[in-house]
Amino acid sequence: MLLDFSALAPREAYQWMTATILPRPIAWVSTVSGDGRTNLAPFSFFQGICANPPTLMFVPVNNRQGVKKDTVRNIEAVPEFVVNLVPRALAEQMNATAALLPYGESEFEKFGIAATPSTHVRPPRVAAAPVAFECRLDRFVHVGEGPLAANVVFGRILAAHVRDDVLGANGKPDSARLDLVGRLGGEAYTLTRETFSLVRPD
Ligand SMILES: Cc1cc2nc3c(=O)[nH]c(=O)nc-3n(C[C@H](O)[C@H](O)[C@H](O)COP(=O)(O)O)c2cc1C
Repeated sequence: MLLDFSALAPREAYQWMTATILPRPIAWVSTVSGDGRTNLAPFSFFQGICANPPTLMFVPVNNRQGVKKDTVRNIEAVPEFVVNLVPRALAEQMNATAALLPYGESEFEKFGIAATPSTHVRPPRVAAAPVAFECRLDRFVHVGEGPLAANVVFGRILAAHVRDDVLGANGKPDSARLDLVGRLGGEAYTLTRETFSLVRPD
């Protein structure tokens, strides 16, 4: 089949993209509002961008009414955030935080997720996350307008908290110990437990 994206409604385009661009890592992003109220939400349009300077990105899209999500409103007010990574053991809690809550209501409090203070930024991090990147906003890039249009968030990585028990013998994170989940299409997820290695050509 050949899909003509110019003929697809945004919702259909979204479904085809999320069913094919697989697997997607999950940024579980903590932010604070201008008056200090915490927010936590997952985003699977997420990637590292470059190491010079250390930068990552994730993409909160506008909701179906074309309104910016709480995460975007908070970063506009306080340009700092934490990207927490999600192991299998935290997947259910991560999913709960995708719920639509009134602006200002904290997913940390509502779902009993333990938070711990960050070192460089105001938003707290998820205490149980195996890795948490403390970031300062680098820039927003807005792509499109209206429902499902993107507010791409680029963040400078200032520091990372890495739990000691996810380190392997070489002192680097071991993917099996991290046990992170990836997002597939619809409601499906995958695990990073099945791996293989390839030697790169010179
Ligand atoms: C695994 C997962 C991945 C998600 N990825 C995205 C994403 O990449 N972009 C997005 O806008 N929403 C994504 N969502 C939906 C948001 O998490 C949801 O809209 C949330 O309510 C936004 O929270 P906020 O309004 O507190 O920022 C995802 C949800 C889940 C469960």
